[in-house]
Amino acid sequence: MSKALDYIDANKEKFKDELFELLRIPSISTDSERKDDIRRAAEYLKGQLSKQELDQAELFETDGNPVVYGELITDEDKPTVLVYGHYDVQPPDPLELWETKPFEPTLREGKIYARGASDDKGQSFTHLKALESYRKSGADFPVNIKFIYEGEEEIGSPNLVPFVTEHKELLDCDMVLISDTAMFAEDTPSITYGLRGLCYMEVELTGPNRDLHSGVYGGAVENPANVLGEIIAKLKDEDGVIQIPGFYDDVIPLSDEDREAYKKLPFDKAEYKKNLGLKALHGEKGYSTLERATARPSLDVNGLWSGYQGEGAKTVLPSKAGAKISMRLVPDQDPKKIGELFKEYVRSLVPETMKAAISEHHGGHAAVTDLNFYGLKAAAKAFETVYDKEPLFAREGGSIPIVADFKKILGAETILMGFGLNSDAIHSPNEKFALKDFYRGIKTSAKFFELLPGQS
Ligand code: BES
Ligand code: MN
Ligand code: MN
Repeated sequence: MSKALDYIDANKEKFKDELFELLRIPSISTDSERKDDIRRAAEYLKGQLSKQELDQAELFETDGNPVVYGELITDEDKPTVLVYGHYDVQPPDPLELWETKPFEPTLREGKIYARGASDDKGQSFTHLKALESYRKSGADFPVNIKFIYEGEEEIGSPNLVPFVTEHKELLDCDMVLISDTAMFAEDTPSITYGLRGLCYMEVELTGPNRDLHSGVYGGAVENPANVLGEIIAKLKDEDGVIQIPGFYDDVIPLSDEDREAYKKLPFDKAEYKKNLGLKALHGEKGYSTLERATARPSLDVNGLWSGYQGEGAKTVLPSKAGAKISMRLVPDQDPKKIGELFKEYVRSLVPETMKAAISEHHGGHAAVTDLNFYGLKAAAKAFETVYDKEPLFAREGGSIPIVADFKKILGAETILMGFGLNSDAIHSPNEKFALKDFYRGIKTSAKFFELLPGQS
């Protein structure tokens, strides 16, 4: 182990340069013009895996973007860890808000600025470099390892469930290890044991067959933008309770223990507000901010359009209005069922004057890891060694739908070993990842692999 740690210390510059090379590839999965870049990123990771002299390192083709796979079996009796990460990134827009270019990684004040720095190239690269620290320093690798890097996470992993189902034996493992979440706060390592699910809907209302003069027709013809506003207002009440009938039917309520555990987390509400530039917070009555953001379901408009958006005032009564609405789900809500309930309820609110098209985008189930799972002990000890602090256990509000599928298809628990921060601005301009957490992440991963066999 000390050989591996020495190797990490001696190769910090090289690791950073290699991550920068990956970050320079604009592997944006929502952009069909970026297929070459997607492939370049996949090839780059495959090359990185090949350098570790594994038993296997290859690209698997899917109906979408390739899956990068690598494996090293050292001893059948040792635990097998499946590392999952995603090499695709969110689009960088709005570009003008970036201080330095999104695909020209830049180090400023100890932070790597680039799209994908934290989500998820930087974080997921830590495990590859941890493996390297054993392979290249002459230390024995302590467990069996399999890597799976996908290129479609940001578009809902449409081809990953079929891939995992088809390659169940290949992916057979004792646990999944993912770094694609955040630490509780700076220098406050944490293990995420819950993620929310997702149901994402789109609503489009059509009123008159064309945009109308709002003076000539206003008052006599119902306006889809007004109606959409009314519908949205009926999705929640003033206590922040979602009004879709049946929405809460399958929600597992928070237990008293859960709520006690939440109270013990070192959450700084003032700092939270300050960071967001807010004077006050808002949410479901009877729940704390942390509970609202991680353990209770939510509903939000993510996009809203209608009418004239340009400069000045154009008097127009729009023909159409639309909204994209996400619902974050908790165990045991089923995204398909929630989607149906949403459709039914919204349809019931649409007046005769409008036509409504309601469709569903990708979604996924929430996931919770069993806190008694032995792998978590090794993860906690590894964090403690590297960060000199015991990690907290916390749930997070974001979604990684494949986690629930790994459990269902492979029967494997997932360890969410996040090295990012909520302030990393993932999906936003100026995404960043602290360089020191990149290095601490590599060490934590290396330590985890060392400690794991002793825990099983
Ligand atoms: N890494 C994030 C998920 C995440 C972020 C989990 C922060 C916990 C804390 C992931 O890449 C992501 O963005 N997921 C999407 C869902 C997906 C189906 C598009 C999300 O949560 O919106
Ligand atoms: Mn991610
Ligand atoms: Mn993401």
